[in-house]
Amino acid sequence: MEKIKIKDRIIVLRELIDKYNYYYYSKNSSIISDSEYDILMKELEELERKYLKEEKDNFLSLKVGSTLKNTKFTKAIHKSPMLSLSNSYNIGEVLDFIKKVEKNIIAPKISLSYDLELKLDGISISLIYEDGELVKGITRGDGKVGEDVTENIMSIESIPKKLKEKISLEVRGEIILPISKFNTLNIERLENGEEIFANPRNAAAGTLRQLDSEIVKKRGLDGYFYFLLNAEFFGFTSHLKSIEYLEKLGFKTTGICEKLIEISSIEERIKYWEKEKEKLNYETDGLVLKVDNLEVWDELGNTTKAPRWAIAYKFPAKQVTTKLLGITWQVGRTGKITPVAELEKVTLSGSSVKRASLHNYDEIVRKDIKIGDTIFIEKAAEIIPQVVSVVKEVRTGEEIEIPIVTNCPSCDSILIKEEDTVDLKCNNLECIGKKIGRIKYFVSRDGMNVTGFGDKLVEKFIELGYLNDCADIYNLKNLKKELLEIEKLGEKSIEKLLEAIENSKKASFEKVLYSLGISHIGKYASKILAEKFKNIDNLISMELEDIREIEGIGKKGSESIYYFFRNEENLKIIEKLKGFGVGFSILDEEKNTENFLEFFVGKTFLITGKLSLGTRNQVQDLIKELGGTNSVSINKKLDYLIVGEDAGSKLKKAEKIESIKILTEQEFFNIVETK
Ligand code: IVH
Repeated sequence: MEKIKIKDRIIVLRELIDKYNYYYYSKNSSIISDSEYDILMKELEELERKYLKEEKDNFLSLKVGSTLKNTKFTKAIHKSPMLSLSNSYNIGEVLDFIKKVEKNIIAPKISLSYDLELKLDGISISLIYEDGELVKGITRGDGKVGEDVTENIMSIESIPKKLKEKISLEVRGEIILPISKFNTLNIERLENGEEIFANPRNAAAGTLRQLDSEIVKKRGLDGYFYFLLNAEFFGFTSHLKSIEYLEKLGFKTTGICEKLIEISSIEERIKYWEKEKEKLNYETDGLVLKVDNLEVWDELGNTTKAPRWAIAYKFPAKQVTTKLLGITWQVGRTGKITPVAELEKVTLSGSSVKRASLHNYDEIVRKDIKIGDTIFIEKAAEIIPQVVSVVKEVRTGEEIEIPIVTNCPSCDSILIKEEDTVDLKCNNLECIGKKIGRIKYFVSRDGMNVTGFGDKLVEKFIELGYLNDCADIYNLKNLKKELLEIEKLGEKSIEKLLEAIENSKKASFEKVLYSLGISHIGKYASKILAEKFKNIDNLISMELEDIREIEGIGKKGSESIYYFFRNEENLKIIEKLKGFGVGFSILDEEKNTENFLEFFVGKTFLITGKLSLGTRNQVQDLIKELGGTNSVSINKKLDYLIVGEDAGSKLKKAEKIESIKILTEQEFFNIVETK
């Protein structure tokens, strides 16, 4: 780069970073993601260091925190500067840090050990205690001067106002808002029509900078501590031991300060915490590796910005910003209409992202999202990225409102908003979009798992008229000639696809049940139903009230199952699938006939009412063991109804069917006794 261009770039970067700092530190909001900010900062750091050697004092990249321009609080000077941490993004950079540390300590060489801690994503705070009493709380500010937020700190319940020992000390840590409290706060703000906080850090910063300490008290901030200043003065030689001492004095710590037994275990610990952090009730954006031996901290010293005895390892970014280019409306298998955000391509947690999910139109209204907006997206527990919030601060006025859809994007039918839900639905039974959705769902990985049957192929086959319902996939083998004529589909891939389709017939009953796409019946419910009913005919013959009694199937689920099997079209598809050889039952384990009793063999039994001589499960097992079959409902094929106490509607129903014989619990056990 030519020198003049470099100067221009430095100006641009400084302006940008100044702006981001202003929003982050003064307005408690982020208009860029941490990872994007870090990249710009790294670039500025390199350019300033390389090309502006003479003006070191003015380097923006060497400044820590905020300028405190607009603070409403009294300023307070830090006795020792509050530094930041150097960042690293991969294991190589962490290992380089260790090498540098080992190289930098001079004789006598001692064997160093390292502690690994969580890096809390909150607001740094320094607390000063005199004779065991909390006297001051100061934010980091620009590292030299911070804001005196003592009154607010006093209203944080978990922060000790009086220590267990009457000593004077300075301790540093992080003020955070627990995730559970953050969620409740945002729900409340939504209900009051207030702007929601994009993340717990912004919410914590906004809360700590409230002038009304009553609000601080109400919101439930929390404080975790990770650094006792001048710990050596208290007789410690180990950082870990000083943290244990903080706990003893009454400070809250994360409880995670792991002494690394071997350097080589770092990689495994990083991987472990990357997953485990999701279970915590506070946000962490990385780990901090610290030299445990306090006696070398002074020797290692600090750079202008950060200590040389610690390094932060940042987790891959969960949130990034991008531009919303447009909205596509999609119709799913149940007719539910979902808006999908079309985005300017970005990298998120290592993969390239062009689309994100928005659950429904209400979410667009609630988050006030417009086309052209800069938005934060994140990868949550689900694999599909979600739209988190809009960066309203950078709106230009050119953004376009997103109109609500009125017609199905696939079949153009008028959409219906169902009672009690926020969902728009297409109720056209013939809607092609719904058909595509059902077949995609049927062949999906969690369903019949037909590998190589992608969305495009499903759509193509429907378009060509080869698929009308999911059972038709088993007829594709008879259309091989036609398939070979489709452009871009080679013989080999067709063979492979047909083989995968044939193989899918071996899918277990629970997978088959799931694949039918019954609303509200996911993987878990399908498993319960398959285990309970063993075959589809048992399930079809169930009455609504009986389905409702099944544990693990909700109200919506039971109604959905019941009505699914009352629909002729669905029953036809099931028959068609059976005809193709798809299994609709759990195959019974090999029976041990040794214990069979003639009375039971080939007979079906059902239990109703409360039993007193055994549990329902025990009696059902006994029936099986003796050669009988347990039925799930009253029907003409039932042979015996075993009646316990307080039997109700089932008994009444059975009495109307002549072929069913009624046995009391005692009579049943008398028969068993004859064995
Ligand atoms: S030690 C001299 N330990 O991260 C700096 N800092 O990005 C000593 N932070 O300014 C800091 N968790 O506010 C330390 N376990 C931890 C931390 C931690 C979060 C914060 C701290 C620091 C910032 C740097």
